[in-house]
This record gives sequence, structure tokens and C-alpha cells, in this order.
Amino acid sequence: MKKIVLLLLTLFLGISMAEEKKVLVIYYSRADENYEVGNITKGNTEIIAEMIAKKTGGTLLQVEPAKAYPKSYNDCINAAKKELAQNARPEIKPVKINPEDFDEIYVGYPIWWGEMPMPMFTFFEKYKFQGKTIHPFVTHEGSGISGLKRLKDVTGAKVTPGLAIYGHVAQNDRKQAEKEVDDWLK
Ligand SMILES: Cc1cc2nc3c(=O)[nH]c(=O)nc-3n(C[C@H](O)[C@H](O)[C@H](O)COP(=O)(O)O)c2cc1C
Repeated sequence: MKKIVLLLLTLFLGISMAEEKKVLVIYYSRADENYEVGNITKGNTEIIAEMIAKKTGGTLLQVEPAKAYPKSYNDCINAAKKELAQNARPEIKPVKINPEDFDEIYVGYPIWWGEMPMPMFTFFEKYKFQGKTIHPFVTHEGSGISGLKRLKDVTGAKVTPGLAIYGHVAQNDRKQAEKEVDDWLK
């Protein structure tokens, strides 16, 4: 009898703890003109971030630079190249929630010059992520996933194997993108 009560108690505690896990989906994404997709009103990474938030019941947190990047693709890649070379920390808009309150964290960004866009570094240097687990996801147009070493270094978190989706697939083939997200979340 004692054993059954103990078993039920363990099960109950296990379930409540699993229910309490707070999921956060942090992402940076840029709309306007981009490679392969032309002028878009919603960024490729944002589409994937929304899918993940919906499927995990997570809260979305968008990292936004205080000064928007140029709308033209060519001007934007030049601006981003310069920032990367300077190891810049572009100012970001304040966020309304505290990311440190969450246990399970998804982090999404577009690959920019083989790296994570610099506003993400500004963001990660503002908060503590040591000891947390980060599940990274990226959109790209050929490079695949990168920037993970620097993500690990800047957060001090455990970074799990990530998901890489082509930006134009996220933008124009939602069914395929959703399948890739589902396979990864499993
Ligand atoms: C500044 C800039 C740099 C980029 N650098 C790369 C790159 O190095 N490798 C790559 O595969 N795609 C690169 N891309 C393409 C983006 O990663 C891709 O379009 C992504 O889906 C954009 O996501 P977003 O709409 O969420 O910003 C770059 C795009 C921009 C604007």
C-alpha cells in the first residue's frame, strides 16, 4: 500500500513539474527585402518562431534593434558586415518580460555572414542564462546552422543540436517548414 501511495505521489509531482516548465521563444528576424524572397512583411525566422511557440505553448520574445536595418538587401548586408567586423553591440529596444524567469529556451535567428546577428549579442549580454538549456533554430540561404559556439560562449548555457531551415521555405512553403519543425521538436 505504502509503495502504491509513494508511486502515485512521484507520478503526481513529476506531472506537475512538467506542467510548470515555462517555455520561452526568443528570436530576431528582419522583414523588408531579402535574398530569395523579395520584399516580405514578416521575417522568415519570425514565421518559424511563431510555429514553435504555438506548438510548445511558449511565450514569444522578439529582440528588436533600436535602429532598424536598411530596407534594401544590399544595404543591409553591408551594414551587417561592418557590425560583425567591429564586433558591435547595437542598441536594442527594451523587452517587457524577464527571460531569466523561463526554464526552457528556444533561440532563433537568421544567419548573417555565417554568424548570429549582433543585436542578439547585445541581448544575451544583458541577462543571465548560465545553467539553462537553449534549443537553437536558424533560417539561412545555404550556410546551414552556425554561430553556435558564440551562442554558447555568450550565454554560458547548454546548447542542444539546432534546427536549420531555408528562409525561402519558411516564407513560401509553410507545410514543409512545419514538417521540419515537428520532426525537430520530437
Ligand atoms: C545581412 C545578411 C547576411 C546574410 N548572410 C547569410 C549567410 O552568411 N549565409 C546564409 O546562408 N544566408 C545569409 N543570409 C540570408 C538569411 O540568413 C536568410 O534570408 C534568413 O532566412 C533571413 O531571415 P529573417 O527573414 O528572419 O531575417 C543573409 C541575409 C542578410 C540580410
